Amino acid sequence: MAQAKYTTHLGMVDILPDDVRKWQFLEKLIREEAHKFNFEEIRTPIMEQTELIVRGLGQLTDIVSKEIFSFSRGEDNYVLRPELTAPVVRSYVENHLDQRGGSQKLYYIGPMFRAERPQKGRQRQFHQFGLEVLGSNDAVADVEVIAFMIHIYNKIGITNTTLKLNSIGDPESRDKYKEALKAYLKPNFEKLSDLSKKRYDKNPLRILDSKEEEDQPFIKNSPVITDYLNEDSLAHYAKVKEYLTDLNIDFEEDPYLVRGMDYYTQTAFELISPDLGAQDALAGGGRYDLLVEEIGGQPTPAVGFAAGMERLLIACEELGIELGTEKKVDVYIVTLGDAARKWGLSQLPKLRERGISTTMDYMGRSMKAQMKDANRENAQFAIIVGENELNEGKYTFRNMKVSEESSLSFEEILKRMEN
Ligand code: HAM
Repeated sequence: MAQAKYTTHLGMVDILPDDVRKWQFLEKLIREEAHKFNFEEIRTPIMEQTELIVRGLGQLTDIVSKEIFSFSRGEDNYVLRPELTAPVVRSYVENHLDQRGGSQKLYYIGPMFRAERPQKGRQRQFHQFGLEVLGSNDAVADVEVIAFMIHIYNKIGITNTTLKLNSIGDPESRDKYKEALKAYLKPNFEKLSDLSKKRYDKNPLRILDSKEEEDQPFIKNSPVITDYLNEDSLAHYAKVKEYLTDLNIDFEEDPYLVRGMDYYTQTAFELISPDLGAQDALAGGGRYDLLVEEIGGQPTPAVGFAAGMERLLIACEELGIELGTEKKVDVYIVTLGDAARKWGLSQLPKLRERGISTTMDYMGRSMKAQMKDANRENAQFAIIVGENELNEGKYTFRNMKVSEESSLSFEEILKRMEN
């Protein structure tokens, strides 16, 4: 095959029809389950203001410092959204969603963009589904969010997962911890990676998330944040663990889990799968009680998660889980001659309005080739029509699966199809 002249950008992939059926299955499942949890869908633009993402996620995060796709046009700076928490918060504030009353329980499904080095499970355009609950500081919200996340994987049959849990506390607890962490790292400051040196003053917590080789020995033995939580933070964390236990949701505490964005407070979690290789996080999330205010709204506690859809599909493949159905069509109308072709074309809407999927040849092929095509399309039935059938008003109705034929009027065919 000749090499294509134009290709997708690095790390961006086409989702072709045979795969789209899996995606549609997954999206339908997410929508149905989100409805059962009483979450409403929100859709925000693919592009946001760069300032929102920088402010929301934090200047020193990997995403902001090296992974955003951004450009300017006139006075405006655009960024392809790398995630949806900050955009959803922007929308919440801009549209005064708090005035709808209660806590806002929102879900989303859509493409995100991060200029990372592509590898298995890591793309530059990828897709997430996720939930955000705005306006609740109750541990019930944390646990409902986690329960929904686990529920989706369980429903699909991905059960060999590990829920990692941590609390990174409120600002007061975190400030105390940051001092302790800095004091611990100080004697080895010169041995840290350049990135960690940069983070040391402004955001030492991010050092714990470093993937640089030279940082690992220091991370391994550093003090843990859970020893520095104040009473409120400890109480919230204890409630989260208590409710998870009540729901029989297993978790593993990981005091070094800090997540990749600066907006987190209190609960932080990740769902890990052994079937993913190096990029082993299926999903992640946590509380971000200060982000709404940071973006210009009233103080509003919030919690959410997002899951990588490509990674979910990789896990399915590894586990031999088949999502979606095979391609098929209910009826293929096979015609011989112009008059039959015209007749076929005019019957298509009658079948479709009854909810029957139907098609015919678009390429002027022979009857034999049309039958072959009906098989390729995985048609359940064929209506075969030539001049004789037209004259008699009786058509050959063929069950393609058992190769049985009868001669029926169109009304009789419709009746058969309805049964
Ligand atoms: P995140 O951990 O950056 O969190 O992303 C969530 C999930 O998206 C990851 O666990 C992973 O499955 C998937 N993902 C991330 N980057 C890529 C990539 N380059 N290629 C493929 N999959 C990827 C967030 O985005 C937060 N907004 C989650 C959140 C919601 N926190 C609170 N609310």
